[in-house]
Amino acid sequence: MLLEFRVNGKDVKVDVDSAKRLIDVLRDDLKLTGTKEGCGEGECGACTVIIDGAAVNSCLVLGHQVSGKEIFTIESLEKDEELDRLQKSFIENGAVQCGYCTPGMLMSSKALLMKNDDPSEEEIKIALEGNLCRCTGYNKIVKAVKSAAHK
Ligand code: FES
Ligand code: FES
Repeated sequence: MLLEFRVNGKDVKVDVDSAKRLIDVLRDDLKLTGTKEGCGEGECGACTVIIDGAAVNSCLVLGHQVSGKEIFTIESLEKDEELDRLQKSFIENGAVQCGYCTPGMLMSSKALLMKNDDPSEEEIKIALEGNLCRCTGYNKIVKAVKSAAHK
């Protein structure tokens, strides 16, 4: 099927199998490999992208379900070689952990800040509850999101 949607501010058309998952369309067809696959079962949040303003696990969505929608991936955060304030804040606060969980953490945080530019600690924790890291921790990430919001 011919799938048409908007990704990172550009209209795209891709010819894909209707059963192909969005994460595979992004990574294989559009070469947007910043979105990572962890569990592939909707449990870890590594594959989070923003669809029409909401943080969504792209491993649970089929490509055809995003027809006509607006998607942002981790690649959208850097503009003109300038990192987004969230990315800068993650670096400043030591919140960049591994390459698997960080893109998803950033996109869930971005979706939160798009709706709420002054979230409470509780609201940040709720926004990140679908993003798992079993090896490090969440304190620095919560601090980074809070500090990006204050900028
Ligand atoms: S890879 Fe999608 S939630 Fe884990
Ligand atoms: S899963 Fe990335 S640091 Fe734990």
